[in-house]
Amino acid sequence: MSALRPGLKLRSFARLPAARTISTTPLRAAQPYFSNEPSGPTVSTAIPGPNNKKAAAELNEVFDVRSLNMLTDYTKSIGNYISDLDGNTLLDVYAQIASIPVGYNNPHLEKVATSPEMITSLINRPALGNFPSAEWANILKTGVLKVAPKGLNQVYTAMAGSDANEIAYKAAFMYRRQLERGGPEADFSEQELESTMVNQQPGSPQLSILSFKSAFHGRLFGSLSTTRSKAIHKLDIPAFDWPQATFPSLKYPLEEHAQENAQEEQRCLQEVERLIKEYHNPVAAVMVEPIQSEGGDNHASPAFFQGLRDITKRTNVLFIVDEVQTGVGATGKFWAHDHWNLDTPPDMVTFSKKAQTAGYYYGNPALRPNKPYRQFNTWMGDPSRALIFRGIIEEIERLGLVENTAATGAYLYAGLERLSKQYPQHFQNLRGKGQGTFIAWDSPKRDEILAKAKNVGVNIGGSGQSAVRLRPMLIFQNHHADILLERLEQVIKML
Ligand SMILES: Cc1ncc(COP(=O)(O)O)c(C=O)c1O
Repeated sequence: MSALRPGLKLRSFARLPAARTISTTPLRAAQPYFSNEPSGPTVSTAIPGPNNKKAAAELNEVFDVRSLNMLTDYTKSIGNYISDLDGNTLLDVYAQIASIPVGYNNPHLEKVATSPEMITSLINRPALGNFPSAEWANILKTGVLKVAPKGLNQVYTAMAGSDANEIAYKAAFMYRRQLERGGPEADFSEQELESTMVNQQPGSPQLSILSFKSAFHGRLFGSLSTTRSKAIHKLDIPAFDWPQATFPSLKYPLEEHAQENAQEEQRCLQEVERLIKEYHNPVAAVMVEPIQSEGGDNHASPAFFQGLRDITKRTNVLFIVDEVQTGVGATGKFWAHDHWNLDTPPDMVTFSKKAQTAGYYYGNPALRPNKPYRQFNTWMGDPSRALIFRGIIEEIERLGLVENTAATGAYLYAGLERLSKQYPQHFQNLRGKGQGTFIAWDSPKRDEILAKAKNVGVNIGGSGQSAVRLRPMLIFQNHHADILLERLEQVIKML
């Protein structure tokens, strides 16, 4: 029996040929991926409206609502459009903090969700390290690993972005100590076994992970020590003594500041190398986001990341790329680090958000700890979420959604460039050219823009101190871009 609601249909055409080439001409004629998506936003009450206010008050009795953005009606949200409880429908370019890839109520995902395979995996959740099903290998090979970054062919699955990062850090530390000990066969010493039980060296070594200023890698204990975006995330939580390097601060437009920016990147690379060589707690891995996302949409060039890879190779430090926010198509390539053309792949790549599952990819078998139960949890991920990721991958491939995102991003960027010329004070440092729809800019009135955007029917997020960040879904098309551009101009005129 299908649980698909009548009328909720995804277009059956295989691909959108026009959207597969990068074009900056409007594709008004392009068919929407969701045939029943609204033709535009509808705002009929103030936001929040009376129903939302009432529901928020009720929720507040049992759940902290101080971070509430809007109470959502997920039964009515479709494709790129999010609905609230007052009948308002907004074009959503925030997409659950960049984590919805193929649209609200995607019919293919509904099919996956109601399949017998899904039901079995939901009601019989395995402790994956101990009792995986016979299908687990196939689920991984036809899903998570089908899109593994070049050069990486194995995965540890996890529950969320922070979790993925933390288990990657653990893998880095265990790998490092294994090398120091003389390889996987070398036994732990009595001293190590005893000292680790009282959190002391050498069993609990003072190793570190190097991350960057303004980085965001999550909020669990270990990941939080590499997060450097906002103090409020970190306050009161004990942290490791780990080094931070400066992330390049590029000037825009890039074409006009090429030399300065190259110098800035060189300066940051020198700092990384110096910290690796001199920091008192030896660095086991360098952790970096391809585009610092929560920290304000800070970009660096492929040359910078190539430089990082070179330094990590030279200094025998692992190179971990955090693709939690950038991964799964948003930058117009499946993985953002595909833009870098690295000679040697990263040692580990972490993922979550649009994958709807999480984990880290790796290739070197020595990154598996030398004994079982060293990298272990009850669940170690979730097959039902891995099935959803496989469904997402099927949709991305069927509809050519990475190509769509590259093309729509170019179109949207051109429109934003026009707006930035017209309203330079509200569109500063426009960035993300050639990076799909992963676009941002700064505005001194950022918070006002985000609030007013809702009232004209657009749900947008911010990042860092002053950036407006766009994180539309992969099904965002040129006609959505047109609506967004028009509404943004409307907001600017209201300021
Ligand atoms: C780059 C990056 N890494 C890690 C995380 C943490 O992921 P999660 O919130 O799923 O733990 C985030 C979340 O925004 C992120 O953007």
